[in-house]
Amino acid sequence: MIEPEEFLKFLKERRSIRAYLDKMISDDEIEMILEAGRWSPSASNKQPWEFIVIKDREFIIKVAKAASYGRFIKEAPVLIAIIGKTRISPKWYIIDTSLVTMNMMLMAWSLGIGTCWIGAMNREKARQILELKDSDYVATILPFGYIKGNIPLPTSRKSKEEIFKEI
Ligand SMILES: Cc1cc2nc3c(=O)[nH]c(=O)nc-3n(C[C@H](O)[C@H](O)[C@H](O)COP(=O)(O)O)c2cc1C
Repeated sequence: MIEPEEFLKFLKERRSIRAYLDKMISDDEIEMILEAGRWSPSASNKQPWEFIVIKDREFIIKVAKAASYGRFIKEAPVLIAIIGKTRISPKWYIIDTSLVTMNMMLMAWSLGIGTCWIGAMNREKARQILELKDSDYVATILPFGYIKGNIPLPTSRKSKEEIFKEI
């Protein structure tokens, strides 16, 4: 188990990173990120997902064109597309793949690797580029790379008073 104070500090320190060094991350690091995704919880443990690791530079540039507010992913040495299998879990695939995304992002942060959730994208275009089935849902395409420049300042959060309720 992780020391709780340390864990909360870790959660608070994570940032979305949108600039990456031109340096490949290791296969062991990629494996750990994939493992963090594989061990995510899912409704009825259906695990309605597949992960596609993309390292080919030309393919990265091609697939980055589907990211509307995330063209910066073309600078990352590695992308992982998280695919929701809608037929396996029609009701929960979006939530389940979101949990995968968070697990992978936290694993990356613990490795000193930057990433950023890409939500705004042309999913149809991404699906075609990745040659997926009609029933496949491109949840996100996460970029991974060592952090270029300074870690961004913390983003703001709503106050506790605003959002914590007690009955
Ligand atoms: C569901 C979701 C979709 C997001 N989509 C994008 C995106 O398309 N492009 C981008 O640059 N950041 C995207 N983000 C990152 C958010 O902007 C970021 O998490 C938020 O500003 C808080 O900053 P932090 O992650 O550094 O704490 C997304 C985050 C989430 C959770």
